[in-house]
Amino acid sequence: MKSLVLLLCLARLWGCHSAPHGPGLIYRQPNCDDPETEEAALVAIDYINQNFPWGYKHTLNQIDEVKVWPQQPFGEMFEIEIDTLETTCHVLDPTPVAQCSVRQLKEHAVEGDCDFQLLKVNGKFSVAYAKCDSSPDSAEDVRKVCRDCPLLAPLNDTRVVHAAEAALTVFNAQNNGSNFQLEEISRAQLVPLPPSTYVEFTISGTDCVAKEATEAANCNLLAKKQYGFCKATLNEKLGGEEVAVTCTVFQTQPATPQPQPEGANEAVPTPVVGADAPASSPVGAPGPLPSGSPVYTHVLAAAPPVLPLHRAHYDLRHIFMGVVSLGSPSGEALHPRKIRSVVQPSVGAAAGPVVPPCPGRVRHFKV
Ligand SMILES: *[C@@H]1O[C@H](CO)[C@@H](O)[C@H](O)[C@H]1NC(C)=O
Ligand SMILES: *[C@@H]1O[C@H](CO)[C@@H](O)[C@H](O)[C@H]1NC(C)=O
Repeated sequence: MKSLVLLLCLARLWGCHSAPHGPGLIYRQPNCDDPETEEAALVAIDYINQNFPWGYKHTLNQIDEVKVWPQQPFGEMFEIEIDTLETTCHVLDPTPVAQCSVRQLKEHAVEGDCDFQLLKVNGKFSVAYAKCDSSPDSAEDVRKVCRDCPLLAPLNDTRVVHAAEAALTVFNAQNNGSNFQLEEISRAQLVPLPPSTYVEFTISGTDCVAKEATEAANCNLLAKKQYGFCKATLNEKLGGEEVAVTCTVFQTQPATPQPQPEGANEAVPTPVVGADAPASSPVGAPGPLPSGSPVYTHVLAAAPPVLPLHRAHYDLRHIFMGVVSLGSPSGEALHPRKIRSVVQPSVGAAAGPVVPPCPGRVRHFKV
């Protein structure tokens, strides 16, 4: 019994010593719609969009909570919780997220939920911790706004994969330039009546000219990546099918810095099917960085994430897992659990009778 008590004491002592903020130091809780809070949230949004290797850009919907801690030896740390919504811009699309429209409820909206820690030193924010997940709206809620709207379909559904491949064939046949390969199926919906499949997918240019490309396996992806984004509908008709496809080809991406060993390219251009996205998604080449935006030293999880085959959307949780992603001068201070254990006792004192003005305003709609 005695040793147990001693152990408890030791544990508490340890807790005190490893606490990121000295006892007595308390956080402040600015308004969730404070310009400074919003600035922190927008840095977090940029971070998501620059490091999410697949799927769609997310935009800020609501700031749920913010706490600001004094940081040793200087600066402040913003602990912030935000809600995001999927936009219609793919992460490879260079359009700034502010100009991207939000995916509407009737299109089957996807919302994200993120915890961030951002260091603010000399007026500049940097991301120290990012943990997110995202999920499509419930079928029930989609039905409430629109009874017949098709729901998101699994990306490995045979009809979805077929529609994307058929649409790419049509696009390549109409295109006198480079031959494109399927990169990633991004979202899909199956319409029961009249039977049709709607699919959005990304493509990547190869060194083959479309007309000459007989065997896709003989084409190599371009060193200067040229991505495109396509929307297609495949209508099943009596005696055949009808495909309508439109693609936007983005400006070329800079070549990847490290040279590929001889023959390495041959393994790359295996036609991608939604079922095999991890091997083919441009993990090493996140979306284009808008000029002038901060560049983060980002360390992704060592192993490429394994995505569920039957996913209907790309979950933020596979990339933003809560790893400390920035070598910070006070890295050990950035453990949210430790912080929380310190927060609890001082909450009563800090909050008082005034309810902090959080969560902030909803920018688009609640999912
Ligand atoms: C491809 O070439 C054909 C015939 O030369 C032309 O009619 C068509 O407009 C061209 N398509 C594109 C996308 O350039
Ligand atoms: C899609 O993935 C799920 C889960 O791995 C699997 O059970 C299902 O058979 C796959 N569907 C197709 C059409 O490949």
